Amino acid sequence: MPLNFWQKLQKTGRPILALAPMAGFTTSAFRQICKKYGADVLYSEMASATALYYNQPVGKSRIGKPGRQGKVGPKNQTDRCEGNATLKLLKFNRRREKYYIVQLFGSDPEHFAVATRIIAERVKPDGIDINFGCPVPKICKQGAGCGLMKNLEKSRAVIEAVLKNTVLPVSLKIRVQAGEVDALKFLKNIADLPVAAVMIHGRTLSQGFVGAPDFRIIKKARRYFKGVILANGGINSLTDARQALKKSGADGLGLARGILGRPWLFKEIKSGKIVDLKPKQIFKIALTHAALEQTLAGKTGIIELRKHLVWYMQGLPGAAKLREKLVRVNSLGEIKKILSIII
Ligand SMILES: Cc1cc2nc3c(=O)[nH]c(=O)nc-3n(C[C@H](O)[C@H](O)[C@H](O)COP(=O)(O)O)c2cc1C
Repeated sequence: MPLNFWQKLQKTGRPILALAPMAGFTTSAFRQICKKYGADVLYSEMASATALYYNQPVGKSRIGKPGRQGKVGPKNQTDRCEGNATLKLLKFNRRREKYYIVQLFGSDPEHFAVATRIIAERVKPDGIDINFGCPVPKICKQGAGCGLMKNLEKSRAVIEAVLKNTVLPVSLKIRVQAGEVDALKFLKNIADLPVAAVMIHGRTLSQGFVGAPDFRIIKKARRYFKGVILANGGINSLTDARQALKKSGADGLGLARGILGRPWLFKEIKSGKIVDLKPKQIFKIALTHAALEQTLAGKTGIIELRKHLVWYMQGLPGAAKLREKLVRVNSLGEIKKILSIII
């Protein structure tokens, strides 16, 4: 059996560094920036399996045969995703976003089955991930995200549905605890399934996004899970990264908020050295990011980018004034004008 990309990365013996999924943040432009600074794996924003199920793209066939890829629809990436908002959101640049994972959320195994086939055929990512960690009440109430993690039987059915419908490596993103179900119970329940990787957020559902993550539970997960394990939560510096790897014994890390405005954190962790950038250099990175966003998503992309710009300015001299202006920009030209005073 040839190794999947997770196993290839694991074989290098170096910690695998992933850009964790962040809705509204992990766009193609940002993923490309993170790749440039050393991310090994890039997650999409979460996409709804249910939306894909009810709004299946038109093509030669609505959905292809299980496990087959690239047999339907027009040839190029753009055409394959045109006219479907969810697929448009998931487009990527194969050369600049290696390895790219599409994350799906939902609660119905049939929706996941159909969505998996659509993603494999139309988007052709390197892997597919299932969201079991979203704490947002609206999502949990639908039985998705942490709502799904709480239901062991349904979780298993969803994972089986995804595995049955693709040859791509399948990964999971879970929390250390959701209701009565902890990460160990969850992984024990699916120990026989060929899941390639799991990213474990070290916080419980009730902690949400704050508080100390528990990396020790992640260490115990090794007993029940044979694939690649990534630790996630609160990794905001090189020191955090070292501690998380030590405490969790994981194969790698998932970085989320720690990377916002500081994509070079990937480089710091890879090289083991602090990267000390001058404000000018940070502005240049922000401009590269903005130029990419403008090319890929136009004005909408720039509006979405505003929050990234705020992160880039954090801690810089005169940040408050710059932020005030940057939260109103509508084009790359405006951003250039604001930052040109300093560059
Ligand atoms: C704005 C935002 C959006 C997020 N979107 C997703 C998502 O789409 N899917 C997912 O599994 N987790 C999502 N997360 C959770 C992160 O992937 C990560 O698990 C969490 O932020 C903890 O890591 P951190 O402490 O390094 O930020 C999101 C987090 C934030 C802050």
